[in-house]
Amino acid sequence: MASYQLEATGRHVAGLDFPQNPLTSSVLHKKIKSMKPINESRRDFMKKTTAIAGMAAIPFASQAEFFNTNVNDAIKVALVGCGGRGTGAAMQAMLSEQNVKLVAMADAFRDRLDYSYTMLTADDLSETAGYAGNIKNKIDVPENNKFVGFDGYLKAIALADVVILATPPGFRPIHFEEAIKQGKHVFMEKPVATDPAGIRKVLESAAIARQKKLNVVVGLQRHYQNSYRELYKKYQEGLIGEFVSAQCWWNSEGVWVRQRQPNQTEMEYQMRNWYYFNWLCGDHIVEQHIHNIDVINWFKGSYPVKAQGMGGREVRKGKEFGEIFDHHYVEFQYADGSIMNSQCRHIKGTMSKVDEQIVGTKGTIFCGNMNMVDRKGKVVYQFDKTKENDPYQSEHDELFAAIAKGEYKFADGENGAKSTMTSILGRLATYSGQVVEFDAALNSGMSLQPAKYTWDADMPLKPDASGLYPVAIPGAVPLTTSGGTGGK
Ligand SMILES: NC(=O)c1ccc[n+]([C@@H]2O[C@H](COP(=O)([O-])OP(=O)(O)OC[C@H]3O[C@@H](n4cnc5c(N)ncnc54)[C@H](O)[C@@H]3O)[C@@H](O)[C@H]2O)c1
Repeated sequence: MASYQLEATGRHVAGLDFPQNPLTSSVLHKKIKSMKPINESRRDFMKKTTAIAGMAAIPFASQAEFFNTNVNDAIKVALVGCGGRGTGAAMQAMLSEQNVKLVAMADAFRDRLDYSYTMLTADDLSETAGYAGNIKNKIDVPENNKFVGFDGYLKAIALADVVILATPPGFRPIHFEEAIKQGKHVFMEKPVATDPAGIRKVLESAAIARQKKLNVVVGLQRHYQNSYRELYKKYQEGLIGEFVSAQCWWNSEGVWVRQRQPNQTEMEYQMRNWYYFNWLCGDHIVEQHIHNIDVINWFKGSYPVKAQGMGGREVRKGKEFGEIFDHHYVEFQYADGSIMNSQCRHIKGTMSKVDEQIVGTKGTIFCGNMNMVDRKGKVVYQFDKTKENDPYQSEHDELFAAIAKGEYKFADGENGAKSTMTSILGRLATYSGQVVEFDAALNSGMSLQPAKYTWDADMPLKPDASGLYPVAIPGAVPLTTSGGTGGK
């Protein structure tokens, strides 16, 4: 089964803070057994990367600071956001067959960091991740390299050559900005922001990353998945003709909920239950459905110019559900008039489907089936399912191989930002019930972020006396605030 489907069924099991999917795969197990030492020395790696990155273009740090040269020969990794995906990504980085070490960890919460560290250093990963073997010889994070709180990322990033950014997406823009400012290669999870102001920041940082030749991989892992890559190749060869329209789905039962605990400040509650607050999550159209929307953008080769749609909350009525909708249906329009229809739903007992289809002038691509069918229903291409890979592992294998060789190969930041913006555009359309234009939304400067990140911050979005949060009502919510009521 393709890994992407596991995210729908495995990741968001109620009450499970640590997802199944990103940590688990047979590939992971095999890799533990077949880890090889890197041939290239740290010195060679630095020489090559320094030459490529052009140290003169990095004014903030000396060369020694940039590579933390005096510690050891390994490529040093910092993990920012030690939850399910961050822990999984750190494991995959360690299993990349390069000489890699995890040297720093940062999380807003001590208990999350500790749990992640325990998992990463377990004698036997089968207890926590379902695999025999371990990676603990690659985890070198002393107590003073563990950073807790909102500012921890600054110090963790400084200790590394490569940074894994896996917090809720609301923080991605400032974390990515800092990583690039400090001259680090980046693996960052999708989505890369939750609001247009954040997207602009990511686009600016992605441009600087290009100038500095810093590799940036975004966890839109279908780009690293064999079946999608082969379908894309065949599509480019013209097997289904020209793009006509597309459909995509992320319909599932929904995700975890973390209940409010006594004595939590409003900031702590929202941080713990982050999925339900737009400044952190972006709504599920952004947080999950971006994967499918991004596939259509990728094959289409562009981004929609406008969108309109409908959505709301049918079953998500309780106070534990913050402000997000439980369904969205959006019609995205590209510049040539072609349409992407997108639907995402979090409602138990309804049809589950996580998939993409692209209709061309000569046939259709069924991504879930990994095939292409002509107008008469004849299969004209079928991907050999035995050749499928684990894209979560491949994105790290490819990134770290490039870094080890001193190659500048990956610049996923801009696409990550524009596909995230497409998903945000969908949310703006369903919240407002209006036609929303991509450029106007991007240039609106809308930010959902609180004025400061502190535990006692005055949150833009607050519950009423009964504990319920305001929810967008299409037609009644002005577009300028329709990222949620906290927009500014
Ligand atoms: N590519 C995929 O298939 C995939 C799968 C799962 C998750 N993700 C993405 O990974 C990200 C994290 O998701 P998750 O499921 O791991 O969530 P999670 O809640 O398990 O982990 C998030 C972690 O970040 C920490 N955190 C929050 N704010 C922070 C801050 N300012 N500084 C440092 N740490 C902070 C939290 O305390 C938590 O430990 C999301 O963007 C999600 O969309 C991607």
